[in-house]
Amino acid sequence: MKIIIHGGFFSESSTCDQTKIDKQQSMERIVKEAYQYLETHTALETVVFANSLLENDPLFNAGIGSQIQSDGEIRMSASIMDGVSKKMSGVINIEKVKNPILVAEKLLTVDDRILSGNGATQYAREQGFPEFSTEIPQRRAEYEEKKNANRQGTVGCVALDKEGKIAVATSTGGKGFELVGRVSDSATVAGNYCNEFCGVSCTGVGEDIVSGAVAAKIVTRVTDGQPIQEAFAKTFKELLPFDGFCGAIAIDSFGNIFHQDSHPKMVFASYDGINLDIFN
Ligand code: GLY
Repeated sequence: MKIIIHGGFFSESSTCDQTKIDKQQSMERIVKEAYQYLETHTALETVVFANSLLENDPLFNAGIGSQIQSDGEIRMSASIMDGVSKKMSGVINIEKVKNPILVAEKLLTVDDRILSGNGATQYAREQGFPEFSTEIPQRRAEYEEKKNANRQGTVGCVALDKEGKIAVATSTGGKGFELVGRVSDSATVAGNYCNEFCGVSCTGVGEDIVSGAVAAKIVTRVTDGQPIQEAFAKTFKELLPFDGFCGAIAIDSFGNIFHQDSHPKMVFASYDGINLDIFN
């Protein structure tokens, strides 16, 4: 069993040492809690659980603590992919739900699996998700000051369960100050992709991640036989001509855990029951 999570980027210039320590502590707590959950649950159930913990932590830009868009509203996106069934489900620009990832999970069982905007929000209400404001005072203050200290944030998880099954989930509050209608990478195959060979979740600038088709490319390369570190190296090299801003986490079917970022520093933690690897 293996698990890796990410929590966006840590910007040395815009946050203080205490924020870094707080994020390290949260990442360690969440990766260990999610690993414990994985002991008695599937990879698919666990990636949803891990993302909900990350969404509930206001330190991260997903669920509670999400960024505010240019019109002053919060819209969030989240998706799940099951490496066994190859089904992906997600919500794009959903409003006023506590855990977008739980709405994405509901959609995994229906035909129309990716919903956007008002349709996603309406579906959530019909499924019993109550209206919930994910706004925190710090984000409102940043919005009012027209500064954004947490721009490159998204959360995600890849898990490999004891049956060797892989799943991936990703959730985001977006870039902050984006135009209404802008679509994040997090509920696309560029930001969240998985099959029986590999699962990848991305964070960073959605436009760059989509331009680089990052998660889908890495998974395809591993599926075609490339070692995971080579698949990452080639995909990240392809981001260089346009200075693509991206971080990605992955696990392959051999149990290799891998992560890479194009710019310092992605916030991540991985755990296999013995070894904890955490960003510094
Ligand atoms: N990666 C999150 C976003 O760009 O919206």
